[in-house]
Amino acid sequence: MFNVNLRNQVALVTGAGRGIGKAIAQGLSDCGAVVAVNDIDPASATLTAGTLTGEANAYVTDVADSAAVDRMIEKIVADFGRLDIVVNNAGVEPKASILEMTDADWHSAININLSAAFYTSRAAGKVMRAAGSGSIINIASIAGHNIPIALRSGYVASKAGMIGFTRECAREFAAYGIRVNAVCPGVIETEMTAHLRQNVAQMQKWLEDIPQKRLGIPEDVVGLVLFLCSDASRYLTGQAINVDGGKVML
Ligand SMILES: NC(=O)c1ccc[n+]([C@@H]2O[C@H](COP(=O)([O-])OP(=O)(O)OC[C@H]3O[C@@H](n4cnc5c(N)ncnc54)[C@H](O)[C@@H]3O)[C@@H](O)[C@H]2O)c1
Repeated sequence: MFNVNLRNQVALVTGAGRGIGKAIAQGLSDCGAVVAVNDIDPASATLTAGTLTGEANAYVTDVADSAAVDRMIEKIVADFGRLDIVVNNAGVEPKASILEMTDADWHSAININLSAAFYTSRAAGKVMRAAGSGSIINIASIAGHNIPIALRSGYVASKAGMIGFTRECAREFAAYGIRVNAVCPGVIETEMTAHLRQNVAQMQKWLEDIPQKRLGIPEDVVGLVLFLCSDASRYLTGQAINVDGGKVML
C-alpha cells in the first residue's frame, strides 16, 4: 500500500479486468479514489470492480470503439460527477511476422493500443478542461523506445505511437491544467507474457540484461502510476518513464 491521497478523485482504468490494469485499479482504490473499471470482458470487469476496497463500477466497453468510449466517459461523469484520472492500459499483442500479419491483427494493435488512448483523451480531456485539472497516464512499453520484440510489429509501432501521442497531448493539454505521461513497463508477469516465460532459454537471456535480475509483477507498475496521478508529480508532463528493473537506461 502506498501513501498517496486520492480521496474525492474519480479514476478510469481501461483493461482493468486482469494483469497490470487490475493492480493499478486496486492501487488507486487503496489510495481513496473512486474507480471506473473498464474491460471488454464483462466477467473480469465485474470481478475487479467487486474486489476493490472503495467505491467502483464496471464499464464493459471496447476502447477501440470511439462512439462507445464517448458513451462510457459520459456515463462515468453521470455516475460520479467528475473524472480526474485516466489510465489507458488496455492492450493486445498480436503475434505474426510482417509478411504473414493480417490487416485485422495490425489494426487490433493500432486501434486498441493507440487509437483508444486518443478516444479517451479527447472525451475525458473535455471534462478535465472544464475542471481545470487532470492526469492522463498511458501504459506504453519499453518496446516503444528502442527494444523491438520479435514478431510484434503492430505492438511495437503502437507503443512508439503512444509515446509520441503522450508528448503531443501533454503540450496541448498543459494549458488546461491536464498532465499527460507514459509509463513504459519492461516484462511484467501477466497473461500477456505467459508465452515468453515458457521459453526458459529466452527468459534466461532476457534476465541477464536486467540489473535487478527479475521480471516485474503488476504491483511494480502501480507506484509510478500513483506518483503520476498525485501532486507529487505536479511539474512533470510529457514524459515516458521506464519501470523495468533497469533494463533500458535512456
Ligand atoms: N505484461 C507486460 O510485460 C507488459 C509490458 C509492457 C507494457 N505492457 C502493457 O500493459 C498493458 C496491460 O498489459 P497486461 O500484461 O496486463 O495484459 P493482459 O493481457 O493481462 O490484460 C489486458 C487487459 O485488457 C483488456 N482488453 C483487451 N482489449 C480490450 C479492449 N478492446 N477494450 C477494453 N479492454 C480490452 C483485456 O480483456 C485484459 O483484461 C498493455 O497495454 C500492455 O501492452 C505490458
